[in-house]
Amino acid sequence: MPASAASRLPDQMRAAKRLLRYYDAHARALPWRSAPGAPPPAPYIVWLSEVMLQQTTVATVKPRFRRFIDRWPTVEALASAPDADVLQEWAGLGYYARARNLIACARAIAGMGRFPTTEAELRKLPGLGAYTAAAVAAIAFGERAVVVDTNVERVVARVHAVDRPIAEARTEIRAFASSMTPAERPGDYAQAVMDLGATICRPMRPNCAACPLSDDCRAFASGNPESFPAPKVKRDRPHRHGLVWWIERGDAIWLVRRPARGMLGGMAALPGPEWGDDAPSGQSLVAVDHGFTHFSLTLQIASRATPPDDEGWWHPINRVGDAGLPTLYARAVEAVLARKESLAA
Ligand code: ADE
Repeated sequence: MPASAASRLPDQMRAAKRLLRYYDAHARALPWRSAPGAPPPAPYIVWLSEVMLQQTTVATVKPRFRRFIDRWPTVEALASAPDADVLQEWAGLGYYARARNLIACARAIAGMGRFPTTEAELRKLPGLGAYTAAAVAAIAFGERAVVVDTNVERVVARVHAVDRPIAEARTEIRAFASSMTPAERPGDYAQAVMDLGATICRPMRPNCAACPLSDDCRAFASGNPESFPAPKVKRDRPHRHGLVWWIERGDAIWLVRRPARGMLGGMAALPGPEWGDDAPSGQSLVAVDHGFTHFSLTLQIASRATPPDDEGWWHPINRVGDAGLPTLYARAVEAVLARKESLAA
């Protein structure tokens, strides 16, 4: 297309075209992705990767995604897996409700006998949210769905110089995101914006010199792109306390499964009472501090001679890495073993 015609396209379309051209040359090669312009991967691959990538970095997801796909190559295979195996494979990725929803979705899809193909249909699956439905519809099925995650929000807020905190400007940002989304190659476009947010339009020190959208960007024109959007209003996270027991017999420790609902639901754990607002009394071996999204936790680990009941299992200490412990408990185990080693030295 001649440059003069391109310059007459509405600004938004020009930005999308620039971004797609940039993506054609610079797309990150990722195990769940097709090359730019190529037919998309199977919807199962797109869906699984998008769920894994929520709140987890690309670098962390890469090896975990490969293991997961090797173990359950199809949605039907995943649907027939026992819950405990899937939760164990998810251990360390955090936000375990994602794994529980993944199992429920896989079973619903297997029951339907086909993968839902539209954003609206995907949205009806159990626990499948607006972002995932849009991302799968756009990337796997080429629907012009509006894909908005935190990276996209930042890019859009900068292009349009939204100077309020993202949490207060969501409706406006979504409307801008919608107006920028092209009908052509919406899946590549969505991934291009996400790549841009991750690699160039970073929260701090954006690399505007390398950005294909700098000519379209009002934050860049302002001279201080980093100041858009306004920083989030910080609220203090509450602090909670927990106690778990280290119960050792021979070369094994006693592990339990957390209740299916609630924090870390269904995950393997060290046994202990509910967490509360007050520090537990009594002697502990060691403590770890851990940050969750909505609160921070100090977890004391205390020695105990026998299990509180028979709802659990003995797990070999030297294979505790295979127990599927979420990071909180894996860190607690590590802290106890380090403490024991230092006492023995
Ligand atoms: N973050 C979440 N999904 C992504 C994708 N498909 N490409 C790049 N970054 C992402």
